[in-house]
Amino acid sequence: MNRLQFALGLDLPLLQAGMGGIAGPELCAAVSRAGAGGALALYKEPPERVRELVRAVVASTSRPFGVNVIPEVTGPAACRAQLRAALDQLPGHAFVTSFGLPDADAAHDVVRSGRVLVIQVGTLHDADAALRLGAGVLVLQGTEAGGHLLGELPAARLLHEARARYPDAVLAVAGGVATGTDLVRVLVQGADGAMAGTLFIPTVESAAHPHYKQRVVDASADDTVVTTRFDIGWPARPHRVLRNSLTGQAPRHPATFIATTGAGGRRLPVPRYSAAVPVAATAGRIEEMAMYCGRSCSRVAGQHPAAVLVEQFRRTYEAAGRSRDTSTEGGPWKTRSNR
Ligand SMILES: Cc1cc2nc3c(=O)[nH]c(=O)nc-3n(C[C@H](O)[C@H](O)[C@H](O)COP(=O)(O)O)c2cc1C
Repeated sequence: MNRLQFALGLDLPLLQAGMGGIAGPELCAAVSRAGAGGALALYKEPPERVRELVRAVVASTSRPFGVNVIPEVTGPAACRAQLRAALDQLPGHAFVTSFGLPDADAAHDVVRSGRVLVIQVGTLHDADAALRLGAGVLVLQGTEAGGHLLGELPAARLLHEARARYPDAVLAVAGGVATGTDLVRVLVQGADGAMAGTLFIPTVESAAHPHYKQRVVDASADDTVVTTRFDIGWPARPHRVLRNSLTGQAPRHPATFIATTGAGGRRLPVPRYSAAVPVAATAGRIEEMAMYCGRSCSRVAGQHPAAVLVEQFRRTYEAAGRSRDTSTEGGPWKTRSNR
């Protein structure tokens, strides 16, 4: 058991990224039941809905899982309200993942509740701040990652710098991890584990739209691009998406409605350039929407149950651990405490 497994109670040092609209209770619970760390995306969900979603996960797994917030999108008050609603329902072994820095009150609520706070950052500056806020795990996001980007460094470089600065911190890498071999690579580079998002988009349990799932399966790294185009609902943060007719140099078209989507029992219009992803309940011009996708898509093949993917990771991880046991001290496969 290594430090990330130990911190969060996981069989495998692998976290599933919270993904707004995609990572609902089904995906989160499936990943956790398989022994990795599932995460329930709270995105813009109101507190009543947060309670329902958390209850659904609790009903389907007794394994540790996380809830995921995005303070930059919700703002501090709504983020804190989401967290309060979630913390009321969460078992003690659950954890909280935050995309970017939460404010001090929200961080304090999580830490005081005894749950581990996992903060995803893209710079050393934010890593310092996250540790000061009480983060028990840092997720270092590289620019290979799908979705919104928190920094400007590739994952290996950020990891190298962060490991030198915080020798004892629990560090996971986000971006570029879609196979057990990728996980072993980041462990050898000094990480304690990894977080993966793109890998889980096409899973059976993901709520992504079928066309988007197939696009991710068919894509390779160069089919993705970093843009600022899909800024309605989440302005001013670059994001990595699949190239489509809106991501080129063409002048911006009017932000007329191009689709409708289902949320909380209602149908909502989706404007062109919306940050919303196409989900199973979306109808309209799916191909023109924001299809977030990381460079790791080159190694994502087929639409599988999440447990099948986690099992593949486990086999590679355990085989690499066995071969290290016979050659070295066990390295990243062992916790500090049992080294
Ligand atoms: C479709 C998609 C949606 C995402 N939504 C969120 C989110 O709601 N909250 C969050 O913390 N991170 C989100 N992310 C970013 C991930 O946390 C993580 O940085 C990224 O998935 C890692 O790179 P990978 O996708 O190549 O594995 C999202 C990523 C993708 C691909």
